[in-house]
Amino acid sequence: MTDKSGSFDLLAKRISKTLKGAEDRNAKLRTVCRLLKHNVRYYNWVGFYIVYEEKPNELVLGPFDGEPTEHVRIPFGRGICGQAAQLGRRFLVQDVSREKNYLSCSTKVKSEIVVPIFKNRKVIGELDIDSHAVSPFTEKDETFLKKVSEMVSKIF
Ligand code: SME
Repeated sequence: MTDKSGSFDLLAKRISKTLKGAEDRNAKLRTVCRLLKHNVRYYNWVGFYIVYEEKPNELVLGPFDGEPTEHVRIPFGRGICGQAAQLGRRFLVQDVSREKNYLSCSTKVKSEIVVPIFKNRKVIGELDIDSHAVSPFTEKDETFLKKVSEMVSKIF
């Protein structure tokens, strides 16, 4: 599958079906990660970070698909993930070598997009995608991933 919007529509339907299933939340999120990583060739690491009420200014790594990362807890403001959480908006970096406030997981990663998940207008988590390509993300990814984050919000 490529980045064609038709493919994204199909993938969105599969994700929607997964989220409506009977599995528990983490199992659903794991499946969403797997669907995204395995169906879009330039999505090389896909994961969720979650914000827990006890620590409202920290992102905690949730289900993911890809290489393990040392960045299991990220304070708001730090790295691309922390900036997206603090600003409450999606954060797109097409070339991570040009981003100073960046937490590197692997030298293979060249770009990253982070889309917040909102509940009652608060950031309750994020969808984080790393790519091994420079500048792979288009408006179609942004629209699609916003839709995914809105669908995921409903299971929280
Ligand atoms: N690169 C991220 C850290 C998380 S990993 O990509 C999994 C950042 O700068 O926030």
